[in-house]
Amino acid sequence: MGDPSPKARVEELRRLIAYHNDRYYREDAPEISDAEYDALFRELLRLEEVHPELSGPDSPTRRVGAEPVAAFGTVVRTVPMLSLQNAFSDEELREFDTRVRRFLRSRDVPEDAVDRLGYVAEVKIDGLAVELSYEEGKFVRGATRGDGTRGEDVTANLRTIRDVPLAVPAGGAPGGEDPPVVFEARGEVYMEKDDLAALNRGRERSGESVFANPRNAAAGSVRQLDPKVTASRRLRLWIYGTGRIEGAGFASHWEELALLSRMGFPVNRDGSRLCRGIGEAVDFYREMERRKESMPYEIDGVVVKVNDAALQRELGEVSRSPRWAVAAKFSPDRAETTVEDIVVNVGRTGAITPVALLSPVVVRGVTVRRATLHNQDLIDEKDIRVGDRVLVQRAGDVIPEVLSSLSAGRDAPDRGPRFRIPERCPACGAPVERVPGEAAHRCTGERCLAKRKEALRHFVAKGAMDIEGMGTKIVSALVDQGMVTEPADLYRLDRETLAAMERFGEKSADNLVRAVEKSRQVPLSRFLFALGIQHVGEHLSEVLARHFGSFDALRNAAEEDLTKVREVGPEVARSIHACFASPERNRAVDRLLREVTPLPPPVAAGKASGKTFLFTGTLRMPRARAREMVRREGGTVATGIGRNVDYLVAGDQPGSKLAKARGLGIPVLTEESFLAMIGGRG
Ligand code: IVH
Repeated sequence: MGDPSPKARVEELRRLIAYHNDRYYREDAPEISDAEYDALFRELLRLEEVHPELSGPDSPTRRVGAEPVAAFGTVVRTVPMLSLQNAFSDEELREFDTRVRRFLRSRDVPEDAVDRLGYVAEVKIDGLAVELSYEEGKFVRGATRGDGTRGEDVTANLRTIRDVPLAVPAGGAPGGEDPPVVFEARGEVYMEKDDLAALNRGRERSGESVFANPRNAAAGSVRQLDPKVTASRRLRLWIYGTGRIEGAGFASHWEELALLSRMGFPVNRDGSRLCRGIGEAVDFYREMERRKESMPYEIDGVVVKVNDAALQRELGEVSRSPRWAVAAKFSPDRAETTVEDIVVNVGRTGAITPVALLSPVVVRGVTVRRATLHNQDLIDEKDIRVGDRVLVQRAGDVIPEVLSSLSAGRDAPDRGPRFRIPERCPACGAPVERVPGEAAHRCTGERCLAKRKEALRHFVAKGAMDIEGMGTKIVSALVDQGMVTEPADLYRLDRETLAAMERFGEKSADNLVRAVEKSRQVPLSRFLFALGIQHVGEHLSEVLARHFGSFDALRNAAEEDLTKVREVGPEVARSIHACFASPERNRAVDRLLREVTPLPPPVAAGKASGKTFLFTGTLRMPRARAREMVRREGGTVATGIGRNVDYLVAGDQPGSKLAKARGLGIPVLTEESFLAMIGGRG
């Protein structure tokens, strides 16, 4: 192939960018991720910087968006809607601050003003940019951004959105009692995650294509020739700035937001912060990246704006974006990499999971080297093979997964063979079976070391017996050296044996023995969870402990008794029953019960007896304390929303659980009413 000349590459990049602009702006159906698009754009910017002779007025770096589609009327604006320069890391955000200061100094702005430079940081919502125009306080026109100067007239559609004020008062702006003569508000139309999911479910049922993300859904809903369609979608609006205004004014962006809010525009108060310097803006950026998942709407970064209006004017703009603002994007949830190998992992129930070993790649700020391939069916369906280029995703706290193969379907003669889960367990050599009706393959070996290690690792983990210092490596070494084969053996370990293990000092041996001792008395619920019964997670363990009150009562329960427990279905009942029907398992449990005492749950009827609570959002008290209060009062704490939940306690910035709870008619409590209900013991 050889390296193309800069000229050829610039032309190619322009062609690609024009094509993808079209897919994004006109078709609302992008083919590449924002991060990939940004990479193309940056490469072009860089090449044009190094080779100014290749730059020209028709380069896409000089334009914003695309031409409006012919079907809508055109709105020509005097104050263009600009785009934003991007930053992709803390450092790039700090470099933005450096550029701003340098520019201000070059303009002889007094040093103390440069020193006091303040910012407003706001979440960057992933939606469709719009402008709402008001004359004498009346909504007269709404338009998309279009190419920046000329947008599409979508007035009738925007009118159908409840958040769009149809009339605005003066808002106390300088200019008196009357509403401003001309007032243009700018913001983003978006759709909440839950509303998008509901919309897509409906579309799927009726055989229509689904929207890939909230941005496409918002754009597809606003750019509709029939306003009835727009009206039928649950669209929302956030306003973050102004265009042309006459008869109103402000000295800073923070004041601008306050004015907009007073005038009745929806302003995202919780999603914006006044920052004293770039350091605080960087903190906000990091904080929002952490909280992104729990927000009810999609955000793809944080916008940082110079606060002072006079400094904004001084800074002005350069080609397509203001010098006074920057979009700090989050690192993408997805990235491309190569599958170096495919191995299998044996879980505690013997489940065999195929795992891809990857060329290291950074996804959401974390280096990913392994990603799950789930099961044989998914590998077959996605046709993932060793050597393939693949798309890897990390979403929230979920483990990384391989989404798709970019090499699949291509006729590449050098693609490796298809992967098959081995017929024998790689750890113990026992036959591997696929249980009919299940996606997973399982190792059938009763004495499989890998299964044992996984079961022990689960036994000692937090939420189970919580034996501090007993990490995966130690468990593995103990099993390999034959010192431990089942949980009861852990309670027979002595300091000398441990200290003699390779790379294990006396002090850590002491600590470990102490941690093991501490776990001899454990709440029944944690004991049940530690046993690692298939389908019995942390929450269900609590429910069972409360229902049966003692380990023996549970162990002797008939299958029908189990199904009587709210939240226990037939499959779970079968799994619990089967576990205690196995003589081998019972022998190990009996041995364990000679070492460990499970403590029955408090029986006294508390204020939360028989009730299930779920928490969402930020509470003023630590979550752990709130959970403990519920348990002390005889209630249970759920981890997800469902019909079993009796109350949802919502703190600040509640997640999507709130809308779901409302949908299910579950009562919602504030932190105060929760405390009034079950607190009050001092
Ligand atoms: S400020 C000159 N603030 O991001 C300032 N934009 O490329 C221009 N966006 O589609 C925009 N949230 O609509 C600003 N809080 C926010 C934003 C925001 C989302 C969108 C904007 C445009 C893109 C900027």
